[in-house]
Amino acid sequence: MSNPSTTLLLLALLCVSAVAATRTKLNSINNLDDGICKSMVETQGYTCQEHKVTTADGYILGLQRIPNGRSGNETADKLPVLLQHGVFLDASSWLLNPPDQALPYILADNGFDVWLVNSRGTSSSRGHTSLSPKDPAYWDWSWDELVAYDLPASFQYVKNKTGHKLHYVGHSLGTLTALAAFSEEKLLNLLRSAALLSPVAYLGHISSLILRPAVDIFAAEKLKLLGWLEFPNGQIQQLVEFICTTRGIDCSNLLAAIGGPNCCLNSSSIDALVEHDPQPTATKNLIHLSQIVRKGTVEMYDYGLEDTNIKHYKKPTPPVYNMANIPKDVPLFFSYGGRDSIADINDVGILLDKLRDHDRDKLVVQYREEYAHVDFIMSVNANQVVYGPLLAFFRLH
Ligand SMILES: *[C@@H]1O[C@H](CO)[C@@H](O)[C@H](O)[C@H]1NC(C)=O
Ligand SMILES: *[C@@H]1O[C@H](CO)[C@@H](O)[C@H](O)[C@H]1NC(C)=O
Ligand SMILES: *[C@@H]1O[C@H](CO)[C@@H](O)[C@H](O)[C@H]1NC(C)=O
Repeated sequence: MSNPSTTLLLLALLCVSAVAATRTKLNSINNLDDGICKSMVETQGYTCQEHKVTTADGYILGLQRIPNGRSGNETADKLPVLLQHGVFLDASSWLLNPPDQALPYILADNGFDVWLVNSRGTSSSRGHTSLSPKDPAYWDWSWDELVAYDLPASFQYVKNKTGHKLHYVGHSLGTLTALAAFSEEKLLNLLRSAALLSPVAYLGHISSLILRPAVDIFAAEKLKLLGWLEFPNGQIQQLVEFICTTRGIDCSNLLAAIGGPNCCLNSSSIDALVEHDPQPTATKNLIHLSQIVRKGTVEMYDYGLEDTNIKHYKKPTPPVYNMANIPKDVPLFFSYGGRDSIADINDVGILLDKLRDHDRDKLVVQYREEYAHVDFIMSVNANQVVYGPLLAFFRLH
């Protein structure tokens, strides 16, 4: 079921705001100048280090490291865990709840060396060796580049710094990029195990009240035609903050319209979310996602013209990421939700069917009927419901 009028209203609001908002206001919204460590982690009593890694195509990604638990006790030879957020979010999305509810703190308190990475283009990762976010070329990427450059650089950096192979946790787009890399047998020499929360690969059944209509009206393609290569930009972020802080509008409804009706969010976490997100991504990334929604396949960016595809791929159609190629002995933990309108249960079913020959003792699949898309990172009971089993899985591998 979709609701086109909601989408149209939203798009209209976006356009109005784009015209109305001023450039000066835009700069005031990125109040994360102090960095995620100072503004979010240290305030909770944890030590935190800011790191930078440069990708092979020049993007300078920010990572935050929480090396110790609350006790501050340093154990030698901790195993690293790398957490990769989804689209429109950044590393702050893992840190919206108090330490007894938020995954990075729980991992740190359980003896892991925790690393949070931020995708190219988000507040912590806007640097580049030769480009600026003002250059159109800066935004010429889709999730193919997150697979080919961001993930390998982040994995290698953490391996280099710690000397250990890592456990991985992905949410949403952070699951698609990892699965795509694994399907090409990449990263596996650096990986211990992977936990995939709200797993996204096949997207053909997406039922999100906002995203499905947006795909159907080719919203991302239209934004690109209008010259919007970065989305959302600062003006949209302000608009969301304005809408969500205006009395009478409940932003949990907006979140539900995007990712399904969440079971267990605390309103103070939603306020924190609105303060930090939505984070920008490349419009080209959104076009790529829209393509795989429409096609129901997992494949590389489609340039739309056979000749252009041939130029990039030496064939007229984009290469497929074949999920059945993921080696059977890679330890995988999946947790998916019955009310998630992005990682729809039918699409998760298609993915799991591709993995039907996976080694039984290397695959854990958890289904949470009451969970929607952001419950996996923000729910007040995620610690008991998801993170407990996730920790048990990491300890086994
Ligand atoms: C920290 O480590 C010391 C020495 O191993 C131990 O005595 C102490 O109980 C630990 N503190 C906490 C809070 O775990
Ligand atoms: C990791 O270490 C190797 C060997 O020292 C080095 O060549 C490489 O650039 C490092 N990679 C990252 C991402 O830090
Ligand atoms: C929701 O957040 C507030 C503020 O942090 C806190 O006082 C309250 O206990 C939280 N509720 C739950 C159920 O965690």
